[in-house]
Amino acid sequence: MDSGDFFWGSATSAYQIEGGFNENGKGESIWDRYASVPKNIKDGKDGKKACDSYHKMDQDIALLKELGVNAYRFSIAWTRVIPDGKGKVNEAGLDYYSRLVDELLKNNITPFVTLYHWDLPEPLLEEGGFYDRNLPTYFAAYVTAVVKKLGDRVKHWITINEPECIIGNGYVNGTHAPGYKETDTKKILLAIHNLLRMHGEGVKAIRDNCSDAKVGFVGTDRALIPQDKDDAHLEEECYKHFFKIQKDSPAWSGAIYYDPIYLGDYPKEYYKMFADDLPSISKEDLELIHQPLDFIGENNYASDYCFLAEPSTSTKKGKRVFTIKDPKTMPCADIWWEQITPEGVYYLAKYLTKRYHLPLIFTENGMCDNTEPSSDHLIHDTRRSDYIKSYVDYVLKAKRDGIDIRGYFYWSLLDNFEWGEGYKPRFGLVYLPFPDTTRVKKDSFETYKNLIKEQMAKEKEGKKA
Ligand code: NOJ
Repeated sequence: MDSGDFFWGSATSAYQIEGGFNENGKGESIWDRYASVPKNIKDGKDGKKACDSYHKMDQDIALLKELGVNAYRFSIAWTRVIPDGKGKVNEAGLDYYSRLVDELLKNNITPFVTLYHWDLPEPLLEEGGFYDRNLPTYFAAYVTAVVKKLGDRVKHWITINEPECIIGNGYVNGTHAPGYKETDTKKILLAIHNLLRMHGEGVKAIRDNCSDAKVGFVGTDRALIPQDKDDAHLEEECYKHFFKIQKDSPAWSGAIYYDPIYLGDYPKEYYKMFADDLPSISKEDLELIHQPLDFIGENNYASDYCFLAEPSTSTKKGKRVFTIKDPKTMPCADIWWEQITPEGVYYLAKYLTKRYHLPLIFTENGMCDNTEPSSDHLIHDTRRSDYIKSYVDYVLKAKRDGIDIRGYFYWSLLDNFEWGEGYKPRFGLVYLPFPDTTRVKKDSFETYKNLIKEQMAKEKEGKKA
């Protein structure tokens, strides 16, 4: 990827913001179905209307323009384009995204399109979902339809968002659609393998229809941060542990996805660890999965601090045990899993670029800060402003240290439907008093806006110098 301007953006996804759940021919996705089952979503709500971005596109674009971003990452709902998941293409669905792309470009905002952000067509789940070896073929047909329509204007593509959550939450712990609680390792590994093949088919379909496309895959990880910076050995240990496969939770082990994609094969320990449960993995599969990519997409919210335990607790051989600090003892955002650990982005970028040798883009980073409007009707979300500044500081430090980072996208532009958690967790720069979808800018909107302005001015100066 050429190293043009740094992308300062914001990100969203279709089911979380669009609404218009059955309009203009849209079909049913697994999230439409899952959210309709009582008790699946914590607040009992669903994404039928969400932020109503399907009807409020112009307001969203105006917000992006005012924010001053030069990039916007959004996802396409497969079921708007091919309502049954396979078969007939719905032109009205494609037209919606085509207009979105035109409006973005008119405003000098580069579109980053995610092709799969969790909303699988329900009929394809009924055919087996990620257990079905044919799923990648259906994906290729959908991607072809999208790229044929938008590929003259969209150059930045992401095949799949967060495989860890797709399989880990959707297929193993059951907190996301389709809500499976799979205990059979064989089936979990099969789902992972098909997801990787789906990525491969997606890349092929993009390249076949858009010769100058920049393509990436988006993962999510908690970085392992060395707590004691003087212990040179510790960073090495953190790096090694970061790429280790966890036998009891393969779905949450990044290297299971990233090694085949970026390096061409699963890690050696995968074959040993799961010898009795392997899916069928052919040479052709591995080649399909391992296609040249242009960037590593990475989402990060929280990380872990690590240290080597005191010698008194060492192993018999005298080795100090690698230990992760208890996250419960750390400052946390308004959602239990989000510990405030800005340094994490620095180490993530370092580890991932070291192993996979590609430029990296932070495709998501954001804070759940549920501050409600004050008596002046404004939202003084100071913690979110501090969060953004501190995380971006570490992104910039990594850049200064020579790590090849090309972009930062704040998650999210709008408060939106936070999957199984419903509407309570708020990640947006813009507040929505749901079910009312009026948009109210928060203080953090100004913070991010000023930060972008300042950084863009610096980049311009740097170029002149
Ligand atoms: C990552 C996901 O991609 C996004 O959909 C979600 O809302 C955020 N994390 C916050 O949990």
